[in-house]
Amino acid sequence: MVQKINDWYFTDLDQVASTNDAIVNFLAQVKAPCILSAKEQTAGRGRLGRSWQALSGNLYVSFAFPIAPNDISHFALLSGLAVAQTLTSFTNDVTFQIKWPNDVLAEHKKIAGILFEKAADDYWIMGIGINITQAPLLNAAAYQAASLKDFGIQTKRLEVLKRLVDHFDDLKKLYENQGFAEIKKWWLDNAYNRGKKITIKQNNKTFDGIFQAIDDDGCLLLETDNKIMRFMAGDVFE
Ligand code: BTN
Repeated sequence: MVQKINDWYFTDLDQVASTNDAIVNFLAQVKAPCILSAKEQTAGRGRLGRSWQALSGNLYVSFAFPIAPNDISHFALLSGLAVAQTLTSFTNDVTFQIKWPNDVLAEHKKIAGILFEKAADDYWIMGIGINITQAPLLNAAAYQAASLKDFGIQTKRLEVLKRLVDHFDDLKKLYENQGFAEIKKWWLDNAYNRGKKITIKQNNKTFDGIFQAIDDDGCLLLETDNKIMRFMAGDVFE
C-alpha cells in the first residue's frame, strides 16, 4: 500500500532482503522521492561490506531522493544529525553523538548506522538502521551497541520514523536555503571525540591523530605530527 509521510511516498513491508534494494522497485513505481521501511531484513548490510543484523522491533528504512554531486558529502553528515536529533526528541537524559561520518552513538555505544548508495540518475539511497528494542552483540567491533529500550524508552519503529522524517525534512530545507554552515556547526556540537585522539583506517592504512574538526566539504581534519590531514572517507576508531 502506498501512503504518504510529509511529501514523501511511503510503504511499509513485512520482510525484504535489504530496504536499500527493495526501494529501487518502489522508486521505479512512484518515480518521486520515497521512503520504504520493513519489519524485517534478511540480508541487511552496513558500511564497508559488513552485515546489519535484523532484530525485530528495530527500524530498517531507506529514503530515495535526488542529490547533486557536490552535496553528497553534506547529506552524509546531515543524515547523522537528523538521527541524533530524532533520538534526542525522546529524551534529554541521554547524550547522542555522531561519529564521523554518520554513526550515531548513545553514551559511547552505537545505536544507529547509515549507508548511502547510488541509485539511477541523480538519485541516492539513504539506508538507516536504528536500534529501538534490541541491540546486536558486536563481538569484533571496537565499541558496543545499544537500543532506545536500554535507556528506558519504549516506542514503536513507525513513531521513530515519523519523527525522523520531520527532522530530516527540516535539516534538508535549512541546507537548501542556507547552505552547509549551520548544519556543520550543529554537527560539530554533537560530534563524538572531537579534540581527542582517534585512529582512522583508510585503504588498509592507519593514521593516528587528534580529531580537529570537519571542513566545508564535510571531510574529517586530523592533526598528526603538526600537519593536518584531510579524510573524505575512512573508518574511525577511538
Ligand atoms: C553501518 O553503520 O554500517 C550502516 C548500517 C545501515 C543499516 C541500514 S538498515 C536499513 C538499510 N538497509 C540495509 O541493508 N542497510 C541499511
